[in-house]
Amino acid sequence: MDVFEAIKKRYSCRSYKEKEIESEKLSQLLEAARLAPSAKNLQDWRFVIITDKEKKQKLAQAANNQSFIEKAGAIIVACTNTDYLMRCGQPAGTVDVAIALEHICLEATELGLATCWIGSFYPEKVKPLAGIPADITIVELLAIGYPADKQQEQNRKPVEKIACFNNWQFAD
Ligand SMILES: Cc1cc2nc3c(=O)[nH]c(=O)nc-3n(C[C@H](O)[C@H](O)[C@H](O)COP(=O)(O)O)c2cc1C
Repeated sequence: MDVFEAIKKRYSCRSYKEKEIESEKLSQLLEAARLAPSAKNLQDWRFVIITDKEKKQKLAQAANNQSFIEKAGAIIVACTNTDYLMRCGQPAGTVDVAIALEHICLEATELGLATCWIGSFYPEKVKPLAGIPADITIVELLAIGYPADKQQEQNRKPVEKIACFNNWQFAD
């Protein structure tokens, strides 16, 4: 599968088969994250991979009761250990973790797995579940598993609404 095919096939999966993810596949996903770019090459991401059934159930509750994630083979608690702001004012940790997670999503697609980014969660509830220290920031959760659903048609704005050349030309 080439990269563009993986980009087109990736979707947010909200129904998973109760099937373990092979350890080689998990290793490959983590390698995809490890190779991601990061500001100053800080590699300021920390991933806690939750595969324990009971912990996944509790994570689903902490994720605003999004119960579909408890069936996913793994839920990654994606954290950053820096609050470094880039010169542009943006937090490097958030950006870096996001890039690494999307590397994981695309590689997962190639491996026949599906993913769902989870931003709707309560960090204060997730932290004790995964033993995450108080000074560490949880950026996102990512559910990964074998899909029990199918990709739906993607709803996206036309390119003219989101990109222009040389000068800002957007009405909204
Ligand atoms: C940062 C971020 C947070 C998200 N949080 C959630 C979430 O908490 N629950 C959920 O079901 N989907 C979540 N999504 C998935 C989006 O709803 C989804 O990406 C969007 O609707 C486009 O659909 P697609 O991913 O299938 O192409 C999130 C996506 C991103 C990028």
